[in-house]
Amino acid sequence: MKPITVMTIFGTRPEAIKMCPLVQELDRRPGINSLCCVTAQHREMLDSVLDIFGRKPDFDLDIMQPRQTLSTITSKTILGMDDVLAQVKPDLILVHGDTSTTFAGALAAFYHQIPVGHVEAGLRTYDKWSPFPEEMNRKMVGCIADLHFCPTVANRDNLARENITEGVFLTGNTVIDALQTTVRKDFRFTTDILNNLDYANRKVILVTCHRRENYGQPMTNIMTALRRIADAFPEVELVYPVHLSPVVQEAAHTHLDGHERIHLIAPLSVDEMHNLMARCHLVMTDSGGLQEEAPALGKPVLVLRRETERPEAVAAGTVLLAGVEEEDIFSMASTLLSDAAAYDKMAHAVNPYGDGQACRRIADAIQHHFDPSFPAPETFAP
Ligand code: UD1
Ligand code: UDP
Repeated sequence: MKPITVMTIFGTRPEAIKMCPLVQELDRRPGINSLCCVTAQHREMLDSVLDIFGRKPDFDLDIMQPRQTLSTITSKTILGMDDVLAQVKPDLILVHGDTSTTFAGALAAFYHQIPVGHVEAGLRTYDKWSPFPEEMNRKMVGCIADLHFCPTVANRDNLARENITEGVFLTGNTVIDALQTTVRKDFRFTTDILNNLDYANRKVILVTCHRRENYGQPMTNIMTALRRIADAFPEVELVYPVHLSPVVQEAAHTHLDGHERIHLIAPLSVDEMHNLMARCHLVMTDSGGLQEEAPALGKPVLVLRRETERPEAVAAGTVLLAGVEEEDIFSMASTLLSDAAAYDKMAHAVNPYGDGQACRRIADAIQHHFDPSFPAPETFAP
């Protein structure tokens, strides 16, 4: 049988972190001709991940522009993919998660009548506006996709509720595969601030915040609460690698500049981020990926959002929804910083999202789909 041509499409930092281990797995398989196309919806933050994983894309649409809108990302991706797909005609394209690249990449493949595999399928909040636009992106990709790779049982159940039961595989999340390659006890950071922090005697809080639905008042509330936390707890060192979005840069620097224990730093490479997470005391974030990684490393998480499409770690007791009101965030963080029992209850490692084998299962599922004599993967059991 001739090799199956599988084209992986991604564009932002989190997609790259979760897709690069899969691309590496596909690259290794003789039965697969693996091609990688990036939209570069993110430029620097994407390139940083590609450098760490040492994979040069085969196609690069280079679409990013400052303060880009959802419409420009979507239209530039569809037009760019037109040329690539007409030239290559892959047997399958793979997209990841819920970004504009994900949706536009899947739609472009559909227009070319190319089958689509959706990695990280089935996450839902069932609130069209939150996260915005991600909830609708993943629902629309769910309608287009032929293969659905679900991280968890709940994700598979969500698809079943939408009558999507064919081509569904329970694989775990590829982010856990990535995490297993990056965290090391003897890791040295390239940033001096991070090497010099006293992780044993200070309480290092790792913060990230970037979501579109938090732009404006919610982001102001979050930043104000963070400053109050640093003021109220002298043992706290707050480390915030600030997303490159100008909206986020402006909010973070307006509210958090000029405090000796608040460290606003540039986005970290993924290995630095994972190792910082492994050493910190607490994570406060509106990120999706951090909600999956921190529990695996035994770090409590306060989620700076009203909802989450990742309820598994909430159920396991390591993640709490803090919302986007200043008082709620301040009071929940205060409890974790002053009540050792409350902290200890949350600080245990759980792995509801994967066992490090997701990429192998996804690659197996793809080969099985094209050649039923190739064994189907076993189901991920958390
Ligand atoms: C996007 C995704 C979001 C994901 C997030 C991960 C959509 C709609 N949103 O949101 O789901 O959680 O990525 O971080 O797809 N920028 C740079 N350099 C970079 C990256 C971004 O300068 O390397 C700046 C640009 O000015 C860009 C802006 O950030 O216009 C926003 O980037 P964009 O991808 O539109 O939105 P995100 O908030 O990053
Ligand atoms: N991350 C990183 N450097 C940073 C911040 C985040 O490498 O400075 C990683 C993080 O470990 C996770 C992913 O980026 O794997 C999450 O990306 P982001 O929060 O931008 O997007 P989301 O997961 O919310 O879609």
